[in-house]
Amino acid sequence: MCGIIGYIGKPPVIETILDGLARLEYRGYDSSGLAVLNGQGLYVCKRVGKLQGLREALKGHAFDGHIAVGHNRWATHGSPSEINAHPHTDCSGSLAIVHNGIVENYAELKARLQAQGHQFRSETDTEVIAHLVEEQAKRAPLAEAFRSALKELRGSYAVVLLSTSEPQHLYGARSSSPLIVGLGKGEAFFASDVPAILARTRRVIYLNDHEMVELSSAGAKITTLDGRAVTRRSSLVSWDLASAQKEGFAHFMLKEIHEQPAAAEQTLFNRLAQDAGQLAFDRRTSGFLSRLGAHERLVIIACGTAYHAGLVGEYMLEEFAKIPVVVDLASEFRYRGPMLDRDTTVLAITQSGETADTLAGIRLAKTQGAKVLAICNVMGSSIAREADAVLYTHAGPEIAVASTKAYTSQLTALYLLTLHLAKVRATLEPARWQELAQGLQRLPTLLQRALATERPIKAIARRYAAARDFYYLGRRYNFPSALEGALKLKEICPRIHAEGYAAGEMKHGPISLIRKGWPVVFIATDSPIYEKVISNVEEIRARKGECLVIASEGNKAVARHAEALITVPKTEELFSPAVVAVPLQLLAYHIARLNKCDIDQPPNLAKSVTVE
Ligand code: AGP
Repeated sequence: MCGIIGYIGKPPVIETILDGLARLEYRGYDSSGLAVLNGQGLYVCKRVGKLQGLREALKGHAFDGHIAVGHNRWATHGSPSEINAHPHTDCSGSLAIVHNGIVENYAELKARLQAQGHQFRSETDTEVIAHLVEEQAKRAPLAEAFRSALKELRGSYAVVLLSTSEPQHLYGARSSSPLIVGLGKGEAFFASDVPAILARTRRVIYLNDHEMVELSSAGAKITTLDGRAVTRRSSLVSWDLASAQKEGFAHFMLKEIHEQPAAAEQTLFNRLAQDAGQLAFDRRTSGFLSRLGAHERLVIIACGTAYHAGLVGEYMLEEFAKIPVVVDLASEFRYRGPMLDRDTTVLAITQSGETADTLAGIRLAKTQGAKVLAICNVMGSSIAREADAVLYTHAGPEIAVASTKAYTSQLTALYLLTLHLAKVRATLEPARWQELAQGLQRLPTLLQRALATERPIKAIARRYAAARDFYYLGRRYNFPSALEGALKLKEICPRIHAEGYAAGEMKHGPISLIRKGWPVVFIATDSPIYEKVISNVEEIRARKGECLVIASEGNKAVARHAEALITVPKTEELFSPAVVAVPLQLLAYHIARLNKCDIDQPPNLAKSVTVE
């Protein structure tokens, strides 16, 4: 949700800002803009649409400077337009603000500022920040004016301020929206996310909520909103630039699909011993897990794809670790008055670690005395820092809006957690535990083999590319797979309607829609209720629906039940959601490609949902 970059260092800053914005485009792409101090004052340029528009508008401009801010917008208040694009300036045009979040009390602040004579140009909530700082700066130095303005804001913000009055400084602050500081040689950055600065530095400072930074090319001075100085050491991020580039793939989504074997391997690395006899976690996580009581119950909270991983988690944790699990959409959990106590562990699953609903969910859990464990991909993210312990997925940066490698890595982390809890709770015979651990160790290889489905999937995609409605059906562990398969397709192919259902539910309503030729993707890999799934397939075929069946290799009988067939490596049922995720992602990808969709940046979406 909106990408912010701020830079102070050496010319050419415009290229630096555009480069940073290009790497943050996954966060918002309905408009973009930058403000630069070019010696004569503040120059602001904004364009509606993708970043390319801004790039073209800036072509041939001879000026440059040493300090600038930039922004990619995902509209919340005010439609995508040049006026509503960031940066926003004050009445005098001498200070510029870029913002990610929502100022909830903006209407009230705007009315007051208008009464004081401030002229507003946009419909955004953000513009109030520029005028608030301008108002405060009549009486105080810029840093204090910024601090006072921030204290008046309700809601969420990551905000960066550039002003002609202090050409050697940028000011930034955060509250419930991400903002990091990057420190290079004689240069410094603000950014919404690490990939924006990876080309220049891997040294970062993660900010906490209600902290404000005075940034110069020499470094960062951090204070709280109350003015107390904060000492914070920088950390070195392990991601490298290559991991945030396409490296020859047509889209980040395709690259990330192909990275899944490596991502699963990295997530298992050092945690599951070579002989699959032992599990090991870092100290903080081991300590946390050792404190879970015999009567513990788990409440999993997550959004979107991460929620689907949570649903798979529910099946495996209950079946193998015999621990009661409830799975909630984080956006519902926080408003439904959940009953939590000291025997509850809230498990938050999140790629970004910044999803506003999930973050609010863990905060609520803590106020009720529950413990919080996170499965998270981004070190230093808000959820990673606020959870009591973190089981990191090591998928590397996920750039495409459609989540792929994060999903299979989340499943991998859930397999580890299930095996760990099964061991400490002694819920499995040692031989069975060993069998599952060995199965988990083979997962990266199975994911690699599942990538071989790409060739037949390309042909199947051609056959179904013109269809406008799809059902995805599965049962047990693969009911969540059906939800995830449908989400992938509708997310990146906005002209297509796709729905996932539990196959056994079709007869309770949705089957009424089936018409001749309606494509239905069935996940019918080996399971104790495989035959029931095949009965569901036949119910669809009886109504002339076309069944694309994903089955286990070696199943010779299934072909006669399918109009199209994809086979995936045979595995224990609990691992099948990870394996079938690969062809489901590839199917969505190739159908979207044939439909000429904007795969990495689908309309109306943004990667990291940092607003409610
Ligand atoms: C998945 O393809 C989506 N982009 C989306 O559903 C995503 O999984 C969801 O917004 C949660 O994000 P998080 O994992 O970063 O919390």
